[in-house]
Amino acid sequence: MDAAVRKAWHAALAETDADLKCARVAALRVDVAAACDDDPRAVPGRPPKPVLISPRDVPRRGLGTREGRAALLHAVAHIEFNAVNLALDAGWRFAGLPAAYYADWLGVAQDEARHFLLVRARLRALGSDYGELPAHNGLWEAAEKTAHDPLLRMALVPRVLEARGLDVTPGMMDRLRDVGDRDTVAVLEVILREEVRHVEIGTRWFRHLCAERRLDPDATWTRLLAEHGVRLHPPFNLAARRAAGFSDAELPAAAGA
Ligand SMILES: [Fe+2]
Ligand SMILES: [Fe+2]
Repeated sequence: MDAAVRKAWHAALAETDADLKCARVAALRVDVAAACDDDPRAVPGRPPKPVLISPRDVPRRGLGTREGRAALLHAVAHIEFNAVNLALDAGWRFAGLPAAYYADWLGVAQDEARHFLLVRARLRALGSDYGELPAHNGLWEAAEKTAHDPLLRMALVPRVLEARGLDVTPGMMDRLRDVGDRDTVAVLEVILREEVRHVEIGTRWFRHLCAERRLDPDATWTRLLAEHGVRLHPPFNLAARRAAGFSDAELPAAAGA
């Protein structure tokens, strides 16, 4: 990554204002010849709100009320905001991968910034905004846990956390359809379609890194899930997981988890 690209990438990752971060991400380019070679510190910028709390303390509400829908959308906005930082971090942190790797993760960061803005617009339409409710920090904790190894990052972030989004989004869309919130369903349709590509990118680079290290990818993914105490729970969106590159050997492992 040349110095100017790297500087702009860092400025986007460190930006604390959510809308400005999205604008910086949209303007990033990767004409990358080589990977980063300086100190890869975690520097994710976030706004002072939302207040971060334990996942157990995040309130859950039904979708029949405007407040309930705003709470769901707030949780989704927080996921998308973290996903911007995670995608930027995947490019910023790990050196020595092919140029296509950095281009892929920049593309993901730009998708996530768009997703965040779409969800934020829905939140504002419901009279709320990002930051008005508390949220939890589980996604960034996964980034820290996998910060030492891009293979582990690909295994546990796109292939577990983003893949979880593929599983749960259709049910969320059904519940929103039931209460007649078509505008939010339309936003989630876009997100679901694009998230398949993000997980596929994770799969592709996971396999690339396994091949480099002469590891069997199916056995390695299963081993890493076990080593890190990751248990997958139904429902599973098997069609979307297949489209995102999960092998037959990985699908029963997921379904039987
Ligand atoms: Fe997203
Ligand atoms: Fe994503």
